Amino acid sequence: MGSLIERAARDLLRSNYAIALTGAGMSTESGIRDFRGPNGIWTKDPEAEKRAYQTYHKFLRDPKEYWEDILGGRSLLGNLENTKPNPGHYALAGLEGMGILKSVLTQNIDGLHEKAGNKRVLEYHGSVFKLRCPSCSSRFKREEYDLERLALEEKLPPRCDKCGSPVKGDVVHFNEPIPSDVAHESLEEAWKCDLMLICGTSAVVYPFAQLPRITRQRQVEQERKTESGLYFVKSEAATMIIEVNAELTPLTVEGISDYLIQGRTAEILPKIVEAVKELSK
Ligand code: APR
Ligand code: ZN
Repeated sequence: MGSLIERAARDLLRSNYAIALTGAGMSTESGIRDFRGPNGIWTKDPEAEKRAYQTYHKFLRDPKEYWEDILGGRSLLGNLENTKPNPGHYALAGLEGMGILKSVLTQNIDGLHEKAGNKRVLEYHGSVFKLRCPSCSSRFKREEYDLERLALEEKLPPRCDKCGSPVKGDVVHFNEPIPSDVAHESLEEAWKCDLMLICGTSAVVYPFAQLPRITRQRQVEQERKTESGLYFVKSEAATMIIEVNAELTPLTVEGISDYLIQGRTAEILPKIVEAVKELSK
């Protein structure tokens, strides 16, 4: 693994615009279960995943009942208020601090990248700490609404301050469109980057899993010379795609990623940052 750590450090130092894409595997070492790993929420309770596919339709059909379920039930991910970033999160914040990492596109709703210090975080599946109005796309901090009082006074669903429509949790449910601002900005990042560091995602949920495939399509024309001295132009992949994951993913198997550093994000990412510092001396 050592040589791959050093290779990733060299690739990061050579890059001009590196971004990170992250999934639940970033947060398991902060005590938050992932979904499809060996102890994943969906792995252990496939019925819960089936129910999760109904949540968005429930909001559209009956926003009051959607909120009664949320306020009356237990969050699948447990109480995220007190969870803390782990060394993997701090490593990505360190890379941003060095000016190497330009953004983090995360599927995680736990807010741990920002807690670790990353400034440019695109929450592709939203945040558990925010509410969002699907009608006018306004977002609100969760504490801007006293949801428990609204429930007691039979005034659910909470309504948007701007347009009066029912608001929902900011978390993007299955079958729910990705908010257009985040979708657009993420696509721009995927097209602009020349290095994509993909950490802790099984890469099976779309449209997020499409982003590395879009990046892989980027080509640059490189001038090359044959042995006989003839010059020619060759089209080559413009982006280095590196995976850090406990297991192989479709990105690994399909050759979308250039290489996989297999193991724990909380162990590997800090080692990569150490190697970057070493090489920068
Ligand atoms: N280090 C490295 N990899 C890890 C670690 C770890 N400490 N812990 C888990 N993993 C790996 C798992 O092996 C798995 O490949 O991270 C991946 C997590 O995959 P998922 O559980 O599918 O999570 P994710 O890819 O983020 O899921 C995407 O699915 O249910 C939806 O909206 C939900 O955002 C989520 C989306
Ligand atoms: Zn609104």
